[in-house]
Amino acid sequence: MNKKTVRDIDVTGKKVLVRCDFNVPYNEDRVITDNRRIVAALPTIKYLIDNHAKVILCSHLGRPKGEVKPEFSLDIVAKELSKLLGQEVKLATDVVGESAKSLVANLNEGEVILLENVRFEPGEEKNDPELSKKFAELADVYVNDAFGTAHRAHSSTTGVADYLPAVSGFLIEKELTFLGNAIQNPEKPFMAIIGGKKVSDKIGPIEALIEKVDVLLIGGAMAYTFIKAMGYNVGKSFCEEDKLDLAKTIMEKAKNKGVKLLLPVDTKVGKEFDPNTESKNVKYTEIPDDWEGFDIGEETIKLYSDELRKAKTVIWMGPLGLFEFDQFAVGTNSIAKVLADLDAIKVVGGGDSAAAIEKAGLADKFTHISTGGSASLEFVEGKKLPGIEALQDN
Ligand code: ADP
Ligand code: 3PG
Ligand code: MG
Repeated sequence: MNKKTVRDIDVTGKKVLVRCDFNVPYNEDRVITDNRRIVAALPTIKYLIDNHAKVILCSHLGRPKGEVKPEFSLDIVAKELSKLLGQEVKLATDVVGESAKSLVANLNEGEVILLENVRFEPGEEKNDPELSKKFAELADVYVNDAFGTAHRAHSSTTGVADYLPAVSGFLIEKELTFLGNAIQNPEKPFMAIIGGKKVSDKIGPIEALIEKVDVLLIGGAMAYTFIKAMGYNVGKSFCEEDKLDLAKTIMEKAKNKGVKLLLPVDTKVGKEFDPNTESKNVKYTEIPDDWEGFDIGEETIKLYSDELRKAKTVIWMGPLGLFEFDQFAVGTNSIAKVLADLDAIKVVGGGDSAAAIEKAGLADKFTHISTGGSASLEFVEGKKLPGIEALQDN
């Protein structure tokens, strides 16, 4: 990575403002349902504690849109952090106001506090310099470790870097290393599995990856746009009618570049969008009118598994079916299992793909599962991430 990290600066006795991505899912009882992003931030926080810094954490949670809304409070994160660190993490009742200032003024070396949701401030998403200055006044040094928010140019992710020495944390370093290496120096054969909802969401990564991979495997709802583009009926399946030409272009490009493009040869269709709906396996050329495709089919699972077993590097973005419903999680889970057992570099991007692999209990069998949803897709696409650009070069 060509950016400075916390290792490159002296943090002893310094007030260090760390932007994390603690935007975690939680249920109606305000119980965190996946703490992966909090756990991923621990190495940087522990390093700062061990090196006698005064640690000031900040993050957004959800989209309160510049208003103070208690349901978006970071109180649940402060509790989880206290538990994971084994030391109290006090939560300020505001972002850069009196509460934040007073907690900072009383902060000792090795202690950790958390500011309230940065999106309670109307200036945050506008990258307002006045707010950026207020963040900077709280600290001596700025560390960005919020990979999942690195694609946003906000006050706490980029603006503040104009007013403080700014370096990266270990999570951003890890994400750039694993995602970067997989794409730039893949051991071959290099294969990409692209799934999820829409072709339009993944077109950036597809266009970037088609230049690099040996094999491209398509699944998820986006497959039906390709099947329709080949002239077949897709019944009630999700299909982007305005992206048929795009799908044709991708197929053409793959052919011209000698990239092996695999599309589902069969699909599991359901009667209705319901976890217990009637379902059956059909050929991709025979999707009935009033049925909807929710997963890759049995033959496809076999075909994709056989192909993937030859891979030395795999990047996976987007689930292969409606994995939230058990009967349509078979494709995603089967492929996850094949990869889990495979001796290769296996990297996962995209928020729902990560959730699917987590749900299947196979996360520890992968080389790296990104904590960034859109940020990981934009990185793979080759876009510059403002939260990283703003940091000091090495
Ligand atoms: P990621 O977050 O990994 O980038 P996406 O957001 O693009 O993935 O897509 C994930 C969503 O796509 C999931 O909610 C999944 O249920 C849905 N999905 C995948 N395949 C289908 C399908 N065949 N029909 C309907 N929804 C699907
Ligand atoms: C995410 O979950 O993708 C990041 O935390 C960014 O959140 P946002 O899409 O609300 O900016
Ligand atoms: Mg998603």
